[in-house]
Amino acid sequence: MKKGIAMLCALMMICMFACSGSAVGADKLTMGTSADYPPFEFIVLDASNSQSYVGIDISVAEAIAADMDKELSVMNMDFDSLIASLQKGDVDVVLAAMEETEERLAAADFSDPYYTDYPAMILVKADQAENYTSLDSFANKSVGAQTGTTKADIVTGQMPGATFVGLTSVNELVNQLVYDKVDAIVLDGAVALQYAQSNDSLAISSVELGEALLYRVAVQKGDPKGLLPAINATIQKLLEAGSIDTFAETADTLADQAIE
Ligand code: ARG
Repeated sequence: MKKGIAMLCALMMICMFACSGSAVGADKLTMGTSADYPPFEFIVLDASNSQSYVGIDISVAEAIAADMDKELSVMNMDFDSLIASLQKGDVDVVLAAMEETEERLAAADFSDPYYTDYPAMILVKADQAENYTSLDSFANKSVGAQTGTTKADIVTGQMPGATFVGLTSVNELVNQLVYDKVDAIVLDGAVALQYAQSNDSLAISSVELGEALLYRVAVQKGDPKGLLPAINATIQKLLEAGSIDTFAETADTLADQAIE
């Protein structure tokens, strides 16, 4: 009998050890993002000079993780790899100023919207801005957008005669515009405004595009990890408390320090 109890205790100890061991992974919520998109996700140097991820989406993900009693871990990658990483299970959630599209819905599930952006905008050189009066005036111009985004679809679908330049990095696209390698780039509204504000040589074209856009959290198709109910509950809580506006204000104050 005594032996039996000792065995049981030993087994319980092993289980406790093994279970807490496996719980290390489960205590983390891994977010995939493409941190080239202020004010939503970008990189700054923290007090100890190491890189840290900040922005509206990072703050939203931190709140989601905290409500789940998990620690947030951020995986930075090209925007066009995000859905595949989600499918492979390398990341639990994607927050990347991502809109729900038909194509993406075939590969992932989406939360309720947590952010309503302005319509997309066209960023141009300030001294060229008056040359562009309609979508047609971009004919024979080279217009950039980030690969795999709905902004790339705008260039190829709504700007007749424009030459599409697709790059994976938004920072690189902005550089190309600054150095006149492309004539314009299409970005989400808040992002275009951010770059125009931090760079005197850039301006928002008066040519308008579509409607306001909604950003959502993506999870694996069918939500096998059962994350969506908790994600939606946190989103509702944040929206009701006005917290996302506060996140946006904080992101604005940090955006000038973006190193990427
Ligand atoms: N809103 C666009 C889309 O859903 C572009 C998002 C790009 N995001 C980023 N973090 N670079 O396709």
